[in-house]
Amino acid sequence: MPNIKLVDAFTDFVEESTLPYRQMMTYYNCALMEVETKFKVLNEQFSLFYDRNPIESIHTRIKSQSSILKKLQKKNLALTIPNIENNLFDIAGVRVVCSFTEDIYSLANSFLNQDDVRLIEKKDYIQNPKENGYRSLHLIVEIPIFLSDEKKWVKVEVQFRTIAMDFWASLEHKIRYKKNLSKERLNEIDKELLECAKICKTLDEKMEEIKTGN
Ligand code: GTP
Ligand code: MG
Repeated sequence: MPNIKLVDAFTDFVEESTLPYRQMMTYYNCALMEVETKFKVLNEQFSLFYDRNPIESIHTRIKSQSSILKKLQKKNLALTIPNIENNLFDIAGVRVVCSFTEDIYSLANSFLNQDDVRLIEKKDYIQNPKENGYRSLHLIVEIPIFLSDEKKWVKVEVQFRTIAMDFWASLEHKIRYKKNLSKERLNEIDKELLECAKICKTLDEKMEEIKTGN
């Protein structure tokens, strides 16, 4: 019987040390840097005009190899670079946490109006929250990265949230994925989390009202 962990470790080693795989991950990393810079520039310009920063924080992450594998398996796809590039659109992820809901839309619009940003998909969970209460604006975009001898379009997922949306999503993730909870307790938690999501929405609206003085 082979030692599964050793076999996995060996597979990981082979995959990670394969040049095309590392190359692809480098492209995603470069795309993340490009997108992060675009938002930093917008933040600077906004603060020059309006005397406040619309962005509270920006987080970037590359999907781990095990999450890539799991997602491919879920979609019944083999581990190949074209399968990853053509089917997984969240390998590179950017989360932009904004002060106010209004900032989300103005940043998203400015970003999408740039002529090197191609919109692939937009999911507005702020206008249409998920059943569990999740709110956020998701964009899948494609942006070019300029290499020594070619221009490559790379997909990036951008999630925009207010602090309240991010607070809810982070804690929901931690609470819901706790192990060994009974079905009854999970149902109770779902209801309570939905209640909290409504409170977060009210807080966002209240803060926006205070800001605009309405
Ligand atoms: P996946 O990418 O496979 O998740 O499916 P999808 O593309 O249909 O998902 P969607 O665009 O709706 O959401 C993708 C990402 O948004 C997730 O990876 C999470 O980061 C976040 N997200 C979506 N729904 C929830 C939720 O209910 N709770 C939390 N905490 N995060 C969520
Ligand atoms: Mg997705």
